[in-house]
Amino acid sequence: MAASLQTSRDDLKKMEKGEAPPDALRLLAADHRKVEDLFEQFEKARGAEKKGELARQICTELKIHAELEERIFYPAVRGKIEADLLDEAYVEHDGAKVLIQEIEAGEPDEAFYDAKVKVLSEQIEHHVKEEERQEDSMFAQVRKADVDLEALGQQMWSLKQELMAEAEAGALPPAETRTFAGDDAEAALRSSSEFGEPGGKGTQKA
Ligand SMILES: [Fe+2]
Ligand SMILES: [Fe+2]
Repeated sequence: MAASLQTSRDDLKKMEKGEAPPDALRLLAADHRKVEDLFEQFEKARGAEKKGELARQICTELKIHAELEERIFYPAVRGKIEADLLDEAYVEHDGAKVLIQEIEAGEPDEAFYDAKVKVLSEQIEHHVKEEERQEDSMFAQVRKADVDLEALGQQMWSLKQELMAEAEAGALPPAETRTFAGDDAEAALRSSSEFGEPGGKGTQKA
């Protein structure tokens, strides 16, 4: 069973006060709730300033979340769950990153800005469903596998702190794709299996 929506909402509240969720899946689920809330706020927001602020926050949250998954979570579960599901997750992240780059480079009063945020929200909704909600989702498979979710959660929590501090300092690098033509997917996978040290080389293309 997936952790209930209420559990991940409660985890999110605690996380926002600086408290680490108990394990990897609960951390990721709380992150999912966070971006869902932000997308909802964006839908209701009026005015370029507010929209720009929310969209930037969405992009930052998603970039950090993708790093946690690509550098720590996905490599740790590779070989223990369906490979196709993991490969698709990387490609879905990369699809989202293209829109994230577009949104970060754009201004809320530009043509197609709202449409880009909307399409990003739809992509993320689909992706979260595959990770967390659908039958035999990634998280459901991970729960059945032999994975130390507490240790993974701690690793991701410390990387998250580090990346949030970078974001606060305005130093979070742009989202980089790992699976598209011209990307060195092999190197990306190699470096993701050498993950481990937050701030290690997993963020950079080789
Ligand atoms: Fe996720
Ligand atoms: Fe993901």
